This record gives sequence, C-alpha cells and structure tokens, in this order.
Amino acid sequence: MSMTQDEMKQAVAKAAIGYIPEDTIVGVGTGSTANYFIDELAKIKNKIRGAVASSEASAKRLKGHGIEVLSLNDVIEIPVYVDGADEITKHMHMTKGGGGALTREKIVAAASKQFVCVCDQSKLVDVLGNFPLPIEVIPMARSYVARELVKLGGHPKLREGFTTDNGNIILDVYGMQIMNPVELESSLNQLTGVVTNGLFARRAADVLLLGTPEGVKTIKP
Ligand code: 5RP
Repeated sequence: MSMTQDEMKQAVAKAAIGYIPEDTIVGVGTGSTANYFIDELAKIKNKIRGAVASSEASAKRLKGHGIEVLSLNDVIEIPVYVDGADEITKHMHMTKGGGGALTREKIVAAASKQFVCVCDQSKLVDVLGNFPLPIEVIPMARSYVARELVKLGGHPKLREGFTTDNGNIILDVYGMQIMNPVELESSLNQLTGVVTNGLFARRAADVLLLGTPEGVKTIKP
C-alpha cells in the first residue's frame, strides 16, 4: 500500500526525535509537519527541558501537550531547530512561510546550532520559485514594497485576510525563478519596509529528513 503525504510527514517527524539531545531546549517550527513533530516531542517530554516556539500556533500546541514554552530571550543555546519547508533544494536552501510564520522561524533558526528540516518528498525541487515566495511587510509599506518587487521581476499578491503574529502583512511573490537564493535573500532584506523574506539560504538547513514511500531519506549538503 502506498504511503500518504501525511504518513510521510509523520515518519519524518518521528525520525527528527533522533536528533534531539537529552535535557536540552528544542526549537520548534510551524506547519503541519512541525505539528506532527510536536506530537512526537510530547512522547519524550520528560527528557527535554522545554521548547522555543516559532509561532503562537506551535506554542499553543506545545502547551496543550504540557511542554514548557520558553521565551527566546531567556535561552542561551538551542542545539536543534526542527521545521518544515515549502520548497528545499539539495543545497539545503529553502522557501518557507507558507503558514506565515517566517519571521519567527528565521529568528529561532538563527539562534539554533543545527537546523533539521522535515519534509515529504514533494518539497524537494531543483530550483526554488515555483512556490510563491512569502514576504512579511510592515503594513504601511505594502504598496511601495510591491512596486519594488515588480521591478525585481516578481508578481506580488497580498495574502488576503491574514495578519502575522507580529501584526504585519504577507506579500506572496509569484513568478520568481530563484537561481541565486543567497543573493536574493540579502537584496530583498534591503527593501525598506520588508521585515523578513521566506528565503532561508544564508542560514540553510544542516540536514533534510525527506519522507518517501520507501522510507525516510537523510540528505546533507
Ligand atoms: C510555515 C512554514 C512551514 O514550514 C511550511 O509552510 C511547510 O508547512 P507544512 O509542513 O504544513 O507543509 O514555513 O510558515
């Protein structure tokens, strides 16, 4: 019987537990795959000290399982951050933010020693850009940033009815063939009014656990 996408997500979430050292604080991502990881983390909750969450939604799910959620400002080191991605290349560059949590995800990832990315096989691509690139923008800069994104060759679209955990809006940029994710991540960050963009290339994943019908594959750059 072939595996469903959800079963593949569940399998990688389980495999990620093998990367969690005992008695440490765990960085936790956002999304459906991260949710499976939170459910797996609950099974070993007595072996960890707590978690730092990348969204209000993940914090709520962690607390629901009785896992202590710590503020990043109260934590010195996070050995491992576990999160999904919308797209990932074999170089471990990712597009993230499909769930709109990109800014907090990028912050927790930056503060973590190791980034373990958990995905089903549909997320592995040769070139990023098929999935629209999410950009978190300060609301008053929406039109200005959108015009600048058009100059860069993109087609930005406002994510209707959505506000980030930080009170900002998301522009989803269509039509980008991202050949140079490291450079593009930096240049998008230079646009005034942009809070964060969904390219995770400067701080790429360290390991990808990829769910396939044949089992979980471990991929490193
Ligand atoms: C949320 C994210 C998620 O990691 C990404 O959207 C993947 O989600 P899922 O595991 O549900 O496919 O970046 O902002």
